[in-house]
Amino acid sequence: MEQVMIERLGHQGDGIAQGADGTVFVPGALPGEVVEGEVAGDQMAAPRILTPSSMRVKAPCRHARSCGGCQLQHAREDFTESWKQQVVRNALSAHGLECDFRPCAISAPQTRRRAAFSATRTKKGALAGFHMKRSDVIISVPDCLLVDPALAAALPLVEELAVLGASRKGEISVLVTQSGSGLDVAVTGGKELDAQLQSDLAAIARAHGCARIAWGDEVALTRMPATQVMGRAEVVPPPGAFLQATPEGEAALLADVREIVGDAGHVVDLFAGCGTFALPLAENARVHAVEGDKAMTAALDKGWRMAKGLRHVTTEARDLFRNPLLPDELRRFEAAVIDPPRAGAEAQIAQLVEARIPRIAHVSCNPVTFARDAAALVGAGYTLDWLRVVDQFRWSTHVELVAAFTRP
Ligand SMILES: C[S@@+](CC[C@H](N)C(=O)[O-])C[C@H]1O[C@@H](n2cnc3c(N)ncnc32)[C@H](O)[C@@H]1O
Repeated sequence: MEQVMIERLGHQGDGIAQGADGTVFVPGALPGEVVEGEVAGDQMAAPRILTPSSMRVKAPCRHARSCGGCQLQHAREDFTESWKQQVVRNALSAHGLECDFRPCAISAPQTRRRAAFSATRTKKGALAGFHMKRSDVIISVPDCLLVDPALAAALPLVEELAVLGASRKGEISVLVTQSGSGLDVAVTGGKELDAQLQSDLAAIARAHGCARIAWGDEVALTRMPATQVMGRAEVVPPPGAFLQATPEGEAALLADVREIVGDAGHVVDLFAGCGTFALPLAENARVHAVEGDKAMTAALDKGWRMAKGLRHVTTEARDLFRNPLLPDELRRFEAAVIDPPRAGAEAQIAQLVEARIPRIAHVSCNPVTFARDAAALVGAGYTLDWLRVVDQFRWSTHVELVAAFTRP
């Protein structure tokens, strides 16, 4: 048995302490708490909290103890908010940067519009849910407080899909997204799609009101267009395509992006996805949307063509890591939006700084690569005016942000 005092939270949400033999990671512990337990390697797997932090709360979800979906349900919301801001501050200060933080925008419980459930067959039928913490065992999460109730209610559907299409020992992954016309379902890891499975899926889709079911790489059936609203446009994203995690989070990001772009008449949207920012911005500006996935640019383009009252939107499918837009292609724009994947946008930022576009809205899901890219912008004469943490991933350690860069 060892007693340690938690000094800080690590990036996975574990408490970090100095033990007798070095650093100890303590899951579920908060800074300032004294905890006791067996240390194996660098882990104290089952700590007893001797002095609870004033930031500690009873986890609101009944699944929190075992479910691996959330890491920070035991912490007060204001603690998590300032911890996430500190993660960004630390990443920036590693590059000698600081800036003003706007208040965090935290999505409410039960607002996640997409969930990636896992499911396996069992002797009695099937089991669907999330993985337990640090385990490949699945637990059912019917009362999950994270996802929209319509998604939690889809667990029986996910189990039916496993009964039909999971191999005897394998696990399927079922991405369920709310769409304008019912659940949009994408299954991976299942058996091969044959005629029998296809007709069984059609029956399941009817019974559960699914708009679309994709099986592996194929769209097995579409009952209704699986639409997502993006400003005045309705887009049908390819199955599994990126979407912002909550409608509230998306609205917060978009409001800030709109403010940063301001009255720019011509905007480039880099890593544009299916048009989350490009299509609403097209209410006031001409937009060029660039994205690596051709199916996504096609969806964006179709959404724009069907919408009324938008200014001109052009799309380009292009790998912005290998083939970033060059200064000559960028100079015509008055503002840029950039929202790269976790790896960041090093190559594109290197070109962007040459183009001297006056306003840049930078959305990021990785503070470390964001800080690297921010340093390149600031080094080239941009000011990092302000930044907001947009917490679409409440109770998790995931940090997302939007930041405003300008130059004279
Ligand atoms: C964080 S998402 C943002 C999408 C969009 N801005 C939105 O809010 O819905 C990042 C996007 O970058 C795209 N992407 C990933 N790697 C890329 C690359 N090398 N070149 C261009 N786009 C890429 C992904 O397909 C994804 O749509």
